[in-house]
Parts: sequence; C-alpha cells; structure tokens
Amino acid sequence: MPDDIFAELHDNQTPPLYRWFNGHAWVESKNGHYKDVVSPIDHTVLGKFPVVTTAEIDDAIARAHGAQRLWARVEITKRGKVLRLAADWIREHEPLLTTLLIKEIGKPADEAKDEIVRSADMLDYYTHEALHVGGEQLPSDAFPGYDQSKISIIERVPQGVVLAISPFNYPVNLSVSKLAPALMMGNAVIFKPPTNGALSALYLTQIFRKAGVPDDLLVTVTGGGEDIGDYLVGHPGINMITFTGSSQVGKSAAKIAGMIPLLFECGGNNAALVINGCDIETTALEIVKGAYSFAGQRCTAIKYVLGLDSDLDKVLPRVVALTQEKIKMGDPRDPGTKSVGPLITESAAKEVEARIVAAQQAGAKIVLGGKRQGNYIEPTILDHVTMDMEIVRIETFGPVVSFVRVKSIEEAIDLINRSTYGLQAAIYTCDEGLGIKLAGELDVGTVWINNKPQRGPDHFPFLGTKGSGVGVQGIKYSLEAMTRLKPIIINKPG
Ligand code: G3P
Repeated sequence: MPDDIFAELHDNQTPPLYRWFNGHAWVESKNGHYKDVVSPIDHTVLGKFPVVTTAEIDDAIARAHGAQRLWARVEITKRGKVLRLAADWIREHEPLLTTLLIKEIGKPADEAKDEIVRSADMLDYYTHEALHVGGEQLPSDAFPGYDQSKISIIERVPQGVVLAISPFNYPVNLSVSKLAPALMMGNAVIFKPPTNGALSALYLTQIFRKAGVPDDLLVTVTGGGEDIGDYLVGHPGINMITFTGSSQVGKSAAKIAGMIPLLFECGGNNAALVINGCDIETTALEIVKGAYSFAGQRCTAIKYVLGLDSDLDKVLPRVVALTQEKIKMGDPRDPGTKSVGPLITESAAKEVEARIVAAQQAGAKIVLGGKRQGNYIEPTILDHVTMDMEIVRIETFGPVVSFVRVKSIEEAIDLINRSTYGLQAAIYTCDEGLGIKLAGELDVGTVWINNKPQRGPDHFPFLGTKGSGVGVQGIKYSLEAMTRLKPIIINKPG
C-alpha cells in the first residue's frame, strides 16, 4: 500500500490543514476552528487539525451505534483479518510513521521506531488472543439448595460504543492498545487522540480504514481536551471509556462519565527501593533506564529512589556515572541522542525547572544537570529530597530522578503507600524472598524486582491503584474489559 493513501488526510497548504475522520469520510472544519500541532523540537507548525463540533460528535456517535450492531455480527476471525492487515501496513509504513512521531512529540528516533514496531506486534497479538476470550457455563446445583434443573450460559458481549482517549507520549501505541481490543470484541470506537500526536493518530486511523474497518465503526474526532473532552466523556451515547493520561484529568473524567465501565491508566510517580544493594551496577543501570527513557515522560518512569544512606551512598555515584555515559540530550532526530529529547512543550519544561529550583531551595542538592534550555531539561539527579517536595509529591514528567534517604525499610514502604499514586514500584535487592515479601506490602499495581518499571511486555497485566487508574490493561485483560457478561439461564432438557 503506497504512502499516498495518506493524501486525503489534509490539503496541500503549508502547514497542511488536516481533516477529522467522521467514520466514512475525511472532513474539514465546518466553522474554520483549527488547532496547531507544534513540534517540540523547533516549534514549527506541523499541521492544523479541526476542532469538531458537538453536533458532529452527536451525529458520529449515533452512526457508530448502528455500525456496531452490524460489526458485532461479523465473525471474530474476519475481524482479526482486518486488524492483521492493519498491523502489516503499520510495519510497511514504519519509516513514515516513525518520522512523523519524532517530529510530533520529540521522541528519540530509536524509541519512536520501537513504538511503531511494538504497535504492529501488539495488534497481531490482540487478534490471536481474542479468539480465546470467551464466556462459561455454570450448573445450578453447585450452590446449596438448588437442583440440577438450570444451567447458566454466560456469553461475553461487546460494551457497545467505546470512547478511546490516548496520551501524547504514546500516540500510536496507546491508541492501538485501545482500538485493537475494542474492535476485536465487536465494539465501535470514538477515538480522541492527543493534540501532540493527533497527526500520527490520523495516519493510524487511515491504516485501519484502508485495512477494512467498516463505515462509521471507527470515528476519529480531533480537538483539544479543553474543547471537547468533557462533552465526549459525558455523552449518553458512550458505553465505556478507555483513557490514558494524567491523574488530574482521569479523576475529572471519571466524575463526569458516571455509571459506565472505565479502563483508565493515569499518573505513575513510581518509586525504586534499594535494599542491600549488592548488585550496584544492575541497580544503577535499571534506575538510569527507568528514569530517562523518553525524557522521563512516561507513566512508568522511576521518579524517586528510596534507601538507607549505606545503600544510596553506593548506588548514587554509579547512577551519576551511568547517566553521563549512557544518556545523551539532543535533537531526537539525531541517532546520537539517547533518551532525552525536548519535553512536549516549553511550559512543561518550565514546570519541571520550577520544581527543581523549589526542591533545591528546600534543601535538596543538585548532583547532576538541573538546567533548562527551551523545551530541554538536562538529565537531572537530586539528592537529599524529602517527600514533602513537589518534585516527588506530584508526578514530574521530565528527566529528573530524586534520591530520598530513609532511616528504615519500614519508613520507605510507608512513604510509598502514602503516595496518592499507585502504578508501579521497583525493588532492587539480592534477597528476592525479601523483595517478594515487601512487594506484598506495597499499595501499587505492579512491583518489579531488579528491573525497571514498565508496561511491557504487553500481555502482562497493567494496572494502577489510587490515583493511577481504574481497571486492568494488558492484552487478555483489555479484551475482557471491552466486553460485558450476558448470562442466559435455561432449564436443562429432560
Ligand atoms: O506512559 C505510558 C505508560 O504506559 C508507559 O509505558 O511502555 O513506557 O512502560 P512504557
């Protein structure tokens, strides 16, 4: 499929005026209301997308319900064929998609390519796993007092019309992680991409469209969260919402959404706990990888490292040395850049800078970095940070890792559990038994032992507690979340 399949997404102006996808056609803005996509690399306007109107949203959702009823009757094997073709075309267009992703969000080239390839692999996996997500049957006499006269046939049926809202930091991968399970399980999707990442999401939409997703089943609405976010999440025609984004937006959306199923991944602000750091090199390397990938703009990034002085005094120098050796800040298009390109906006970078300054004024010590140049924040390491400082109290989406010294492991566990976040945590120890024991004491979704926190591999369950999310993602779990149970009880024959 040649790259010119994307020609109908926009006009030939510079910068291009993009169109939104109403389910069966690419549509320009009705009222001339467009929003710029500004590259974090050089602040060029890569394109403008329409801000759709509420009337256009209403119409698209109504049509999506009709399309969903037809799609639910298409054999799952045929749904899988459409999505596997989309996976193949994502691979075929990987260079174009990677180049656009780098420009749109400033993701370093190697990580951008990984996101695209991972998305195709994820899509394939969804189509195979979906064949094994089914219901069950239950006999009535399994419960005391009931005879054998009834049997419950419990089917899994689609939720209906799913609203999928994806984040700027994975605008392709965390869109596929929503669209794929929703479509495979017979749903329609109203897809709302982020501002930075919207163009990549529109290209992804066209690939799904051309691969054979039927009319009106997948609608990609563009507009800022501040323009259409509340209207979408509160829309009575939406049957389920899957969202990745900040805890603040997630909490607000959950309040507006009301009584419908939610599958939310929100902020992480993840801790690493170093205990008897016997393998200093592995511990330090995992902390560096966990802290700086995509300039720390990841929900699973390590944000603070807890430990006794005896442990942190050994690990910190190696973290500094490995950061200087392995992490290279620069233009994300440059293959020499490692992990740290620009933050998504200059205001985001200023917010991170302000927190670094505030932490230093409150007594923290800048051991490495700390400076901002435009959208760029140097890879930064702070020591003697305390949990009352904003840099660690609130998720800081930047390349900053803070060292927090504790007097005991119990204190560290208590500090992690007091956090308003609960996505992941990492424990670095040579005593894996102790690691497993302490993992059981942590109020977080997932605990990694002697590894950096991460979402992948994508068939693992992925979830957050507290302000970090609702529901469980991960391939099998997302497929199940896109369905509800439909028990039908019959009298057993004879
Ligand atoms: O921030 C999004 C979250 O899903 C991180 O994913 O794969 O970088 O751990 P990953």
